[in-house]
Amino acid sequence: MPFMAIRPILLHPDPRLKKRCDPVDGIDDKLRILIDDMFETMYDAPGIGLAAPQVGVMSRVLVMDCAKTDEEEPAPIAMMNPEILWASDEMNTHEEGCLSIPEEFNDVERPAAVQVRYLDLDGAEQTLDCDGLLATCVQHEIDHLDGKLFIDYLGPMKRQMITGRMKKRKKEKAKTA
Ligand code: NI
Repeated sequence: MPFMAIRPILLHPDPRLKKRCDPVDGIDDKLRILIDDMFETMYDAPGIGLAAPQVGVMSRVLVMDCAKTDEEEPAPIAMMNPEILWASDEMNTHEEGCLSIPEEFNDVERPAAVQVRYLDLDGAEQTLDCDGLLATCVQHEIDHLDGKLFIDYLGPMKRQMITGRMKKRKKEKAKTA
């Protein structure tokens, strides 16, 4: 078993965060290592979800753990090729953030509940009914696989302001690195 590694998280704006990712066509060791690394990277950040393009891998892979507190049992979920089969008419507004857009948080409205079909790490097809935080998180992460960020739901002014702050932050980070 190779060591798990924390991978660098791409920061917005980055062209790789705007691209549609390719489906996974089989589960192999390379994919298992990617998923281990993605969990490690997500827990380290810390965050509740991470999509492969955020670590520069353009594949339809995501990991999540929406256990809300330290007392709650960890609930890691890895999904390959996730698809939303059904979304509720009822909507829910949740404050979202993103590891690729640190320190920025905004309300986003999405369907309150979704049913998702995906392949698990054994290559078996699964369906999962999601509501609450998990529904928000899974929709946010699937968006990443289609090159969409939560700030794309905001108005153009707000989006430009956030992108401007991120450009500045990336420039400062590059200087001190
Ligand atoms: Ni995100």
